[in-house]
Amino acid sequence: MHSASAPSALPSVPSGASVRLAVKEISKTFPGVVANDRVTLDVRRGEVHALLGENGAGKTTLMNILYGIYQPDAGEIVIDGREVRVRSPRDAIAHGVGMVPQHFLLVRRHTVAENVALGLSGTRFLLPVRGVEMQINAFADRYGLRVDPHAAVWHLSISEQQRVEILKALLRGAEILILDEPTSVLTPQEATQLFGVLRRMKEEGKSVIFITHKLDEVLAAADRVTVMRKGRVIDTVPVGMASKPQLARMMVGHDVDFQLPARRPGTGAPALVVEDLWVQGDRGLPVVRGVSFVLHRQEILGIAGVAGNGQRELVEALTGLRRVERGRVTALDRDVSRWSPRTMSKMGVAHIPEERIRMGIVPPMSVTENAILRRYEEPPFSRGPLMDYVSATRFAQQLIVEYSIQTPSPRTPARLLSGGNIQKLILARELSHRPDLIIAAHPTYGLDVSTTDRIHRLLLQRRDDCAAVLLVSEDLDEIRALADRIGVMYGGELVAVVPAGTDRETVGLLMAGQRV
Ligand SMILES: Nc1ncnc2c1ncn2[C@@H]1O[C@H](COP(=O)(O)OP(=O)(O)OP(=O)(O)O)[C@@H](O)[C@H]1O
Ligand SMILES: [Mg+2]
Repeated sequence: MHSASAPSALPSVPSGASVRLAVKEISKTFPGVVANDRVTLDVRRGEVHALLGENGAGKTTLMNILYGIYQPDAGEIVIDGREVRVRSPRDAIAHGVGMVPQHFLLVRRHTVAENVALGLSGTRFLLPVRGVEMQINAFADRYGLRVDPHAAVWHLSISEQQRVEILKALLRGAEILILDEPTSVLTPQEATQLFGVLRRMKEEGKSVIFITHKLDEVLAAADRVTVMRKGRVIDTVPVGMASKPQLARMMVGHDVDFQLPARRPGTGAPALVVEDLWVQGDRGLPVVRGVSFVLHRQEILGIAGVAGNGQRELVEALTGLRRVERGRVTALDRDVSRWSPRTMSKMGVAHIPEERIRMGIVPPMSVTENAILRRYEEPPFSRGPLMDYVSATRFAQQLIVEYSIQTPSPRTPARLLSGGNIQKLILARELSHRPDLIIAAHPTYGLDVSTTDRIHRLLLQRRDDCAAVLLVSEDLDEIRALADRIGVMYGGELVAVVPAGTDRETVGLLMAGQRV
């Protein structure tokens, strides 16, 4: 059985349904890595097929091959019984394959309609935006994908941007839709909505390949699941016959025990004191409204809330990325209300940002350079004006081992790592120097189940070592597992701080803006 929060099951695919897409013996090697090793699987008409596997298992690579971004070294792709060559995304679209990538690629200054029109066949520079708007509205109704065609993309939330990507694929005639970790960036409510969209696609006989790290979602939304490990397919099983422990075992190759160590009582001195904090959002309105709290050493304070209730701006203000309009922030006994992110990190404040690609790494720089990003001017990494590559590389190598970061070498550009491995690199950099204060937004976003478990243990260990942790997450289970106290944000206010043992329903009601 899956947990009460999991969305309702979809009608299952008839087992005799015809095969729409077959992948046969696909292999792909990058310098130093076998990303796909003779991968074979099939996807049926009207099926939601989940793809599960550890970080770096080769899921995104396989999808990039199906979408024509990479060419396989060997193997075949068969669509509707015919072998096809997919040399580019254009070919993929012509064969009815659409993809919503792990990291979106929308043009931020354009409107929704303009983004959708770009790349529709037959459109050139004079975009028939009017017609596209009508089509968007028609598809939006048909699939329950609400978006405003006139809105500029940079104004949209992540989930709205995702809906635009899905619409774009559907309007281009996708019969097989690939969604690469669509729910990592969604709140549970938004994920439920997305599963409704998938249900409608199934009803129309479309096929969906759906990558996720959340086992509950596999059980709730998929008909069959294929598990990959180290580039290979381990097995494909009907979801009706799968259990969470079994899927976890298939994924990592051994039994997994996710029981976290017991809580240790007692807290230390205040590490972060926030007094009547006011912060403006991107549109110039106050989105953090008079927030006050105290976070102690040896304590994890969870901040729960539905996305868009001021948590992001709160974190940005606390880490120096956004201006404090009013109020005061005292971190590690110093008034940091006006400090820059650089000075904050120098002082021993770790920040795990929400947007890992934009804020967490410098994509073209190497793993080594990213590993010392915050400390390149300090010994032992600098010698006078020069960087000491030997000690920097040694340090990076240490992190690679300690955090099991999969990379061919420390010289590899960070952008070539898999999504989860990028996240591990950020966590390694931020947590390795034993910070006194850790401000973590969605720290396990995009991590597989066993890595998530390791990061949870690490955060608990840092807490026991006397650090203070502010944990912002939309995953209530994560917050309930780790936090000593739970603060709930709603409408920019910290509406309540409740003890860790508070039941899910109460926290859920507070998140929905009800006073309890
Ligand atoms: N363009 C590339 N150049 C070099 N190596 C690559 C490239 N793309 C992927 N890789 C490597 O291939 C392996 C598989 O990566 P992939 O992105 O397919 O993993 P994944 O299963 O999607 O993982 P995650 O869950 O972390 O997203 C990784 O070791 C990755 O570093
Ligand atoms: Mg991936």
